[in-house]
Amino acid sequence: MELTREVRFSLTEVAANTKPRNSWAGWPASDRLAPYLLLRVTVRGVVDRRTGYLCNIVTLDRAVRDVAIPLMRETNQRDLANGATHEEVLRHIIRPLEDVMPEGAELIRLELRATPFLAYTWNKGNSEMVQITQSFEFAAAHRLHCADLSDEENRRIFGKCTNPNGHGHNYVVEVTVGGEPDAKSGMLLGVDRLERIVNERVIDVFDHKHLNLDCADFAETNPSVENITRAIWNRLNGAFDPVTLKKVRVYETPKTYAEYCG
Ligand code: NI
Repeated sequence: MELTREVRFSLTEVAANTKPRNSWAGWPASDRLAPYLLLRVTVRGVVDRRTGYLCNIVTLDRAVRDVAIPLMRETNQRDLANGATHEEVLRHIIRPLEDVMPEGAELIRLELRATPFLAYTWNKGNSEMVQITQSFEFAAAHRLHCADLSDEENRRIFGKCTNPNGHGHNYVVEVTVGGEPDAKSGMLLGVDRLERIVNERVIDVFDHKHLNLDCADFAETNPSVENITRAIWNRLNGAFDPVTLKKVRVYETPKTYAEYCG
């Protein structure tokens, strides 16, 4: 069984006489300008038959508050001129957190969310590797239609999605890349570079287009969310060298998404 706990906090000094809590404001909360972060801790283990617990989440909260947050604050303050990279901070807290995991709970994943749209992930098994997931968006029109089928057949399969003049979506794309951070820069690849490549190869090509009519990717295939996801994978695969493309997820709506890993 795997269990994940999200701990919310800011990298500010702990105010005296405040009690830890894991609410929306996080703890320590901050009224001052300080990074607000989320850390998702995933553990694996056996569920206790009596309590139904893999481990008590209070112990996970405590591990993050007592060990990870002070380390992150310290790392951030040590070199204020350059700041620590998210990759460095993430790798810095793995071992100390492993050491304080409750009995029977093996730390297998850490996800540090720097913004609602940007996450840094470590997975057990490849301790040198860090993954970055960044969200993007584009608006486009499409029509689901098979030319070799009758109008009636198309309506039966695709319903209103086969409307002759198309319809639109606000697509959200999550791109995950992974590799070993550069020893000198402390980064896997800058978020700026990641964004530039995705913008050039995907967003600028698909945004505000009619996918069937304007984009060669869908000259032969229906621009379903599955095919859009694969087309984006093909456009990005190999583009981040030496960093590897790990996953592409595309949300057609908040209720429907497709994922492709090659
Ligand atoms: Ni649609």
